[in-house]
Amino acid sequence: MNTMILSVENISKSFGGLKALKNISFKAQKGKITALIGPNGSGKTTLFNVINGFYKPDNGSIYFKNQLITGLKPHKICQMGIARTFQIVKPLSKLNVLDNVITSSYIRTNSHQKAEETAYKILEFTGLIEDKDKLAKSLPLGKRKRLEIARALATQPEMLLLDEAFAGLNPTELNHSIELVKKITEQGISILIIEHHMKVIMQLSDNIIVLDYGEKIAEGSPEEIAKNPKVIEAYLGEIYALG
Ligand SMILES: Nc1ncnc2c1ncn2[C@@H]1O[C@H](COP(=O)(O)OP(=O)(O)OP(=O)(O)O)[C@@H](O)[C@H]1O
Ligand SMILES: [Mg+2]
Repeated sequence: MNTMILSVENISKSFGGLKALKNISFKAQKGKITALIGPNGSGKTTLFNVINGFYKPDNGSIYFKNQLITGLKPHKICQMGIARTFQIVKPLSKLNVLDNVITSSYIRTNSHQKAEETAYKILEFTGLIEDKDKLAKSLPLGKRKRLEIARALATQPEMLLLDEAFAGLNPTELNHSIELVKKITEQGISILIIEHHMKVIMQLSDNIIVLDYGEKIAEGSPEEIAKNPKVIEAYLGEIYALG
């Protein structure tokens, strides 16, 4: 049976005269991968920023595990179980990989020992353990992106928001990250993923939401979305044309 974990209801958000999100609604199921796709500037990152409390919406409500979270601060929303990564990776560049992850683990504990134990577990899980003593800024992009995921996982979320965690990866890194996302869902963690990489989206998603100019223009399975004329016109046509 499907259990809903996140319900986004009639969310709108403007920046001055620009309507970045217009009355967006969708539901995400527990343990599943829900994708948000759409052209540049269609509102995907803004929606993440509303979900995790960075922006207050002008209208609408968001429920996480049936609790209203709109209006709560990002730190509180993270404590409730929603973690995210950022489109532009920003690890704490002066810290090494281990300390980056320990810093995030502290949201669940005051004990350094416990935070460190969690961090080691997460570094094993994400395949970064051999890099633990390296400075975050010295890592290649693929590993910096994985460190972002590791930091988010260290907060022990029930739902993980991934904002273009696959952008700029080479084919080997890409496959590694796809496997990592599958492993994360096997832990029972629900995922909301923003991605332009169609191979990744079609392979991973259970349900896809399509945004265009701040509006939801379609929702469905990968098969349904791939053949939806509105989606092809607004977004996929361009991608297919580029090959
Ligand atoms: N803080 C802000 N102030 C003003 N305008 C903003 C702000 N954040 C986003 N916007 C605008 O809102 C619109 C949606 O932006 P958003 O970053 O959500 O798009 P996106 O779908 O994530 O795009 P991309 O695929 O390029 O990452 C854009 O027109 C953007 O310029
Ligand atoms: Mg974005």
